[in-house]
Amino acid sequence: MLKTRIEEKFIQAFKKAYPSQDLQTLSIELNRSTHPRFGHYQCNSAMKFTKILGIPPREIASQIVENVQASNHDGVIERLEIAGPGFINVSLSAKYLSEYCQQMLTCKIPSTDKPQRVVIDFSSPNTAKEMHVGHLRSTIIGDCLARLFEFLGHDVLRLNHIGDWGTAFGMLIAYIQQFDNGILLGEKKCDLTLLVRHYKAAKKLFDEDAAFKKQAQLAVVALQQGDQHALKAWQMICEISRQAYQEIYDLLDIKLVERGESFYNPQLAEVVKDCEAKGLVTLSDGAKCIFLEGFVNREGEPLPFILQKSDGGYNYSTTDLAAIRHRIEDEKAKRIIYVVDCGQATHLTMLFAAAQKAGYLNPKEVKAQHVAFGVVLGPDGKKFKTRSGEVEKLIDLLTTAISKAQEILTARNQENNQGLSATQIKDIAEILGINAVKYSDLSCNRMHDYTFSYERMLRFEGNTAAFLMYAYVRIHGIKRKAKQVKIDAIKLEHPAEITLGLHLAQFTEMLDSIAEDLMPNRLCEYLYELAETFNAFFRDCRVLDVPEQNQRLALCELTEKVLKHGLEILGLKTVVIM
Ligand code: ARG
Repeated sequence: MLKTRIEEKFIQAFKKAYPSQDLQTLSIELNRSTHPRFGHYQCNSAMKFTKILGIPPREIASQIVENVQASNHDGVIERLEIAGPGFINVSLSAKYLSEYCQQMLTCKIPSTDKPQRVVIDFSSPNTAKEMHVGHLRSTIIGDCLARLFEFLGHDVLRLNHIGDWGTAFGMLIAYIQQFDNGILLGEKKCDLTLLVRHYKAAKKLFDEDAAFKKQAQLAVVALQQGDQHALKAWQMICEISRQAYQEIYDLLDIKLVERGESFYNPQLAEVVKDCEAKGLVTLSDGAKCIFLEGFVNREGEPLPFILQKSDGGYNYSTTDLAAIRHRIEDEKAKRIIYVVDCGQATHLTMLFAAAQKAGYLNPKEVKAQHVAFGVVLGPDGKKFKTRSGEVEKLIDLLTTAISKAQEILTARNQENNQGLSATQIKDIAEILGINAVKYSDLSCNRMHDYTFSYERMLRFEGNTAAFLMYAYVRIHGIKRKAKQVKIDAIKLEHPAEITLGLHLAQFTEMLDSIAEDLMPNRLCEYLYELAETFNAFFRDCRVLDVPEQNQRLALCELTEKVLKHGLEILGLKTVVIM
C-alpha cells in the first residue's frame, strides 16, 4: 500500500531519532492531506510526541524530516515541508506515483496477507412475512461488506438468518389445516401474499377464539415433537417464502446461504443447560434469564436476556446465543458481522456480552460487530409506506425503479439522438434501476435514516449511480475513439494527471480502512471523487492525437479498472453505452 510505504519511512525516522522510545506507545500516524497545498500526506505525530519527549514539536519535526530525507535514496518522496506548529507535509514524486500506478494496472490488486474467516449475517427476513425495506437495507449493505471482504481475499460466509421457527408457525399451520387445507394437499397454489393474509387471519382468530387457540398450541407441540404432518406443513410455508425472497435476491444479484433460526433449534436445550451449569442463569417470573451488568430498562430495572420463557419456549435470544457459538466453534469465524437495524442494538450488545460470559466469545480472538443502520423514510419524512398504508412490497419497489429508469433512458435517448434500440434501453434500465436503489442506500451514512426517492436516486448528476456508470461509459468511449490500441506505461506529468494518479493509488488503503469501520458510504465518496478527478483530467489534458496519447490511455485504463472494481464491491453492474 502507498500509505504503509511512507509510514514505514516515518517509523524508521522516529526510531533513528529517538531509539530509546517505545514506538508501540508512540504510534506514528499518517493521513491523507485535506488539500493539495498540504502535499499528499500529512504526519501530525510531532505534536503528539512533544509532551512525552519534552522537546518542542517543530524540533521533533525537523529531526524526522532530516532522517526521512536521508532514507529517500529510492526517490519515493519529492518534498517534505514543516508547517504550522509541527505538521509534516509529504509530497510524493511523480516518478514513484507513476510506477505505483503502472504496477496496479498490470498486476492483480493485492489482497490481504492475513486472510480471515468472516461470517456476515445479513438480509434475514421472517418466514410468512413480506420482506420490508429494513431487510432491503440489510441485504444491500451486507452484500457490499461481503463483496469487500471477498475482494480483500478473506473467506466469507454469507448467512441468511431467516426467522423460520417459533410458536407463531403453530398458529399458521392450524389455520391452513382448518381453512385452506388444499394448499397442504398440493391442490391449491399459494404464494407469499396469501400466506401473509392467512397469517394475519390466524393471529386474529388466535386472540378471539379459545378453541382455535387450543388447536394452535397443539400444532406448536406437534411441530416441536417432529410430527410428520406438522413438519410437512411448515416446510411448505418455508418454501413459499423462500421463493418470494429468491426472486428479490435474483433481481439484486445477491448470494446467500440460508441458515435460519430452525437450524439452531436442536442446540437450544443444550445451550440453556450449559449456561445453567456455568451459573449464569437466574429465574425471574419463571423465566430462565441471564442478567448482565449495565443493562437496565427505562425504569432502571435490570434487563433480562431471556433464554427460556416460563412456558418452556425458547426465545430469539436463545437462538442467537446458539448461533454465535456455532459460528465460532464450528464455522471457525474470526469476525462476525451482524447487519441489523439500529433498533436491535441492545439485543446484540447483550448477546455479545452473554456470549462472552458463557465463554463462547473471546474478544481477543474473535471480533463480533453490529453493523447498524437507520430506518427508511418516505418522501413525507415518515416511515416508508405505500399509499394503502401497507408496507411496500420490495419486489414492487425494485420493478418500479427499473421502469422509471426506462422512462428516463428513453427520454434521454430521444433528446440526445443516441440511437439506442428498445432492447438496449430495456437492458440498461434493468441495470440502472437496481444500481440506483443500491447506490442511493450505500452512499448515505448507514447510521442516518435514509429517505427513499426514485427521483433523486435516478439523477444523472451528483453522487449517484448513473453519474458513476456514465464515467465508466465515457472511458470506454475514449478507448473506442483511439485508433491505436498500443498502451504505454503510465507517466504522470501534468498536475491533473498526478492528482488522478494519487487518488487511484489510494484505492487499496481506502478499502482497508472500510474493512475497519464498515462504512460503505466512504467507498461511494471515493468513487465519486474518482469520477470527478477523472473528468478534470480529461478536461485539462488532451488524450487523443497528442504525443502523450498512449501513456494517457494507460491512465484511462487504470481508472476504468479501479472504477469497475469499486462498483463491483458496491454490487453495481457496469455498461459500456448508456
Ligand atoms: N429476522 C430478524 C428481523 O427481521 C433479523 C435477524 C438478524 N440476525 C440475527 N442473528 N439476529 O428482525
